[in-house]
Amino acid sequence: MAKVFVINGPNLNLLGKREPTLYGSETFEDVLSGLRAKFPDLEISYFQSQSEDELIDALHKSSTGEIDGIVFNPGAFTHTSLALADAVRAISTPVVEVHISNVAGREWIRQKSLISPHAAGVIQGFGVKSYELALSYFL
Ligand code: DQA
Repeated sequence: MAKVFVINGPNLNLLGKREPTLYGSETFEDVLSGLRAKFPDLEISYFQSQSEDELIDALHKSSTGEIDGIVFNPGAFTHTSLALADAVRAISTPVVEVHISNVAGREWIRQKSLISPHAAGVIQGFGVKSYELALSYFL
């Protein structure tokens, strides 16, 4: 069974409450149980942090060979963090970058991702369904 690690960055713990017109009204716990039900052939683990260093450590730890893939929504760090981009670049585990909103159509500062050049691919703009589309890559 393929093992996929879903990692969410800052403020994504507030999913369901935070700007629901942009990010939807489901909590991530609900999204996660839906994903686990939908993908019985994937072992899905999950981590969320507000902190850049914890996210970097999570990426490094996923690179020990036990994890087959990472689905990563870096939140606002997408647009600012060279350190997270370096971490994605440094590990050999494939990373699919995910965004709930279509960042390409939002404010100019969100239109640039420092992560994308190092990701295996990017899925954005499909609401929380973006996670499902990203996970299907690892089937
Ligand atoms: C986001 C988009 C980011 O610009 C924003 O800072 C987030 C969420 C998304 O999933 O659409 O926190 O990554």
